[in-house]
Amino acid sequence: MSTKTQQIPAQALRQQHALCAMIREFWQAQGIAPLAFIDTYGCQQNEADSERIAGMLEQCGYSFTRSEEGADIVILNTCAIREHAEQRVFGNVGALVHTKRRHPRQKIFLCGCMMGQPHVSDRIRRSYPHVDGVFSTHHLWRFPELLWHILQGGKRVFAVEDSDGAISEGLPVARGNSLKAWGSVMYGCNNFCSYCIVPYVRGRERSREPAEIIKECSDLLAQGFKEITLLGQNVNSYGKDLALDIDFADLMAQIAALPGEFRLRFMTSHPKDASEKLFDTIAAHPNICKQFHLPFQSGNDRILREMNRRYTASEYLRLVDYGRAKMPDLVLTSDVIVGFPGETEAEFDDTLKLIERVRFDALFTFIYSPREGTPAAKMADPTSRADKNHRFDRLLEAQNRISAEIHRAYIGKTLRVLVDGREDAQLTARTDGGRLVRFTGDDSLIGTFLDLRITESTTWSLLGEIPNRAE
Ligand code: SAH
Ligand code: SF4
Ligand code: F3S
Repeated sequence: MSTKTQQIPAQALRQQHALCAMIREFWQAQGIAPLAFIDTYGCQQNEADSERIAGMLEQCGYSFTRSEEGADIVILNTCAIREHAEQRVFGNVGALVHTKRRHPRQKIFLCGCMMGQPHVSDRIRRSYPHVDGVFSTHHLWRFPELLWHILQGGKRVFAVEDSDGAISEGLPVARGNSLKAWGSVMYGCNNFCSYCIVPYVRGRERSREPAEIIKECSDLLAQGFKEITLLGQNVNSYGKDLALDIDFADLMAQIAALPGEFRLRFMTSHPKDASEKLFDTIAAHPNICKQFHLPFQSGNDRILREMNRRYTASEYLRLVDYGRAKMPDLVLTSDVIVGFPGETEAEFDDTLKLIERVRFDALFTFIYSPREGTPAAKMADPTSRADKNHRFDRLLEAQNRISAEIHRAYIGKTLRVLVDGREDAQLTARTDGGRLVRFTGDDSLIGTFLDLRITESTTWSLLGEIPNRAE
């Protein structure tokens, strides 16, 4: 599919900046220092969006609080991927009636992927009158205009019209972490996996201009960031909608060549178009982490077909083998869905077989959740919840065993880590492969790269020590 990516005009974005200044003056005139609380659900895409909302709020004069109590604005950035995520949001929106009663000037906005579904915005309209504003991901850049309207006493707003999506460059970003940053390379998804809501709520694939991405990355490095995670629902499609001869591997190689000590990650890659060139590029650059998140979803070819994934289990395994042959230390992680409509016990066994064959370092396991409007939601689903839970437990058991075994094999090895913070008495760090290591050390090490010797392991994390200390 080739579409010309639509850019939001600079003039329209300038208007939003001007509205931020007006909102700042609105508060200053009243002698109030306004507080904002942003509650983020879902994946890294939403986290990156929340940082842009926070950037706009900062320009509007807001500072941030960690609770809805007493906040002048509460924003729930929602996720629609599974029913459970949606239920939590509805529960929390309901409870905001009370916080707003205690702080009557509180304004409540809902945004994110759930708001791209008409049945959700209709429900908010009907049953949650205390919500002041709703906007879907396509309308995020218009947030200052929506907020201004509400602060001026305007009627509640719903900016939820569907759109294929556009790109808005130059929005302010208030980053949640000073070491690790998200760098979106593209937005949306064209894959329409039959179970998935994302293409409906985030629109069509659209790539940012490489020059914009490279500039953002070099600015981040100049500010002292040490790790950049390039984001997209399907990074392998990067560049297909641009009139330039560039793919994701080329882009990543250009970013990896920027000066400075830093490391680069990316997610997510779709197996149907994860190329050998991508593995070669990772292998060729020491600062690209040797970690690959490659969701397989099911180990059975019929289920993969029903899911519209467009690869077979053996094609998946060929990719994994290629990657491992190139990089024997490659850390592999994946996503898997249990209990897709019509999945039989034997078909589930193929999923178990695949994880035993690949031996992932870690696995994100989900029980299938029907999403209104997707093809899979209309498929017959005769398997009982109890049977699905049983399959889920067997999968977890197998994966926990594998993860623990893989972690145990790290004992005695020396691994390069980025020290990223403190948890109680210990410092925390991440290996190149994304594994969590705890160790004893001084706060001055936070933000540095270090070699740690691994001394102990659990299913989820590793314990380490600074080698020359012990010697
Ligand atoms: N773009 C990424 C996935 C984003 S969603 C990719 O294609 O790899 C993250 C994970 O949520 C998916 O990989 C899938 O395993 C899971 N997921 C998506 N829709 C789901 C549904 N309806 N029920 C259960 N799990 C789902
Ligand atoms: Fe969803 Fe599939 Fe797109 Fe991933 S690739 S976001 S699972 S439709
Ligand atoms: Fe992410 Fe959830 Fe949206 S997983 S893309 S926030 S539906």
